[in-house]
Amino acid sequence: MTALERAGLGLLHRMDPETAHHWSLNALRAGLAPLHGGPATGARLATTLAGIPLDNPIGLAAGFDKNAVAVAPLMRAGFGFLEVGAATPRPQSGNAKPRLFRLPKDRAVINRFGFNNEGAAAIAARLAMRPRGRVPVGLNLGANKDSTDRAADFAAVLACCGLHADFVTVNVSSPNTERLRDLQGREALAALLAGVMDVRATLAKPVPVFLKIAPDLTEGDLDDIAEVALTSGLSGIITTNTTLSREALSDAQREQAGGLSGAPLFERSTRVLAQLSQRVAGRLPLIGVGGVGSGEQAYAKIRAGASAVQVYSAMVFEGLSLIPRIARELDALLARDGFATVADAVGTDRERWL
Ligand SMILES: Cc1cc2nc3c(=O)[nH]c(=O)nc-3n(C[C@H](O)[C@H](O)[C@H](O)COP(=O)(O)O)c2cc1C
Repeated sequence: MTALERAGLGLLHRMDPETAHHWSLNALRAGLAPLHGGPATGARLATTLAGIPLDNPIGLAAGFDKNAVAVAPLMRAGFGFLEVGAATPRPQSGNAKPRLFRLPKDRAVINRFGFNNEGAAAIAARLAMRPRGRVPVGLNLGANKDSTDRAADFAAVLACCGLHADFVTVNVSSPNTERLRDLQGREALAALLAGVMDVRATLAKPVPVFLKIAPDLTEGDLDDIAEVALTSGLSGIITTNTTLSREALSDAQREQAGGLSGAPLFERSTRVLAQLSQRVAGRLPLIGVGGVGSGEQAYAKIRAGASAVQVYSAMVFEGLSLIPRIARELDALLARDGFATVADAVGTDRERWL
């Protein structure tokens, strides 16, 4: 981390977390944040995710740039791919503030935003205007809190935005919209995905569709999800969203309601990733997310079964220079262990997590 970045983070951490988040997006848009300049890449790091070529397998997780306001600068931060959103059909303000909490003692974050966003039409317009380059940009799909047909909301956002995204993610795993996670059940999920796939078939470009799941699922739930995923035409699964569990935390904010992310989520989300890999490996790619804060942790997710990873909370504590650092460290670890490519390492240490 440079002295400038350290000073910037110090300033941001003196603000309330949501204000700090707002300012970090503003700094990116104003060109004030130090950026790496394009994705780190090389023969070992370059890979393919559901047919999408990536310069490196390190992505930005959904929820950092909910409204796609900073896509162009984020494309120059070193990520191999970005995910923006969640977008819901209609704009909504989300839950009452405060709704974002830093847990520095645990290197963690708790949020209960509840899909605050400017709505699918505004986000589609921004995605349409983005520069086209080497960094694919996906959109996280959500449902309005007051919707009478939540499943139809996912299809509606896809219809509105699908042409302007390189992939979309059906997010039925946010803990902050009441009963949303019930859509992870076998019948509900199959019906929801059928609706999404019907819309996808009408698009001029058949965009890859991912599903994002919670880390708080039983092995029985994972059996159902794997079966539905394999029969529905999905392109991949993102494991995982934030957790409702609160194990071994020491920060004073640990009892805040919402989804926990960051370091304490690493083990749990990687275990779910490995369990899912056991069920779908070779048939569906997985994207590992939850607590990645180093090249070693990205490498562990890949060896547990992920074809690519995503990062959010660790950036709150380490800044954006973390991203090219993770890519460099990952490249060195692949070289150390004799892997010629990321793809060669996928799933090679899965048994350890089962
Ligand atoms: C403030 C905040 C907002 C988030 N919003 C979303 C969202 O809108 N959609 C989604 O699928 N995940 C959302 N997430 C979850 C992240 O994408 C990611 O799955 C989770 O934070 C675990 O990764 P991490 O430990 O690297 O943060 C959000 C996370 C945070 C911290």
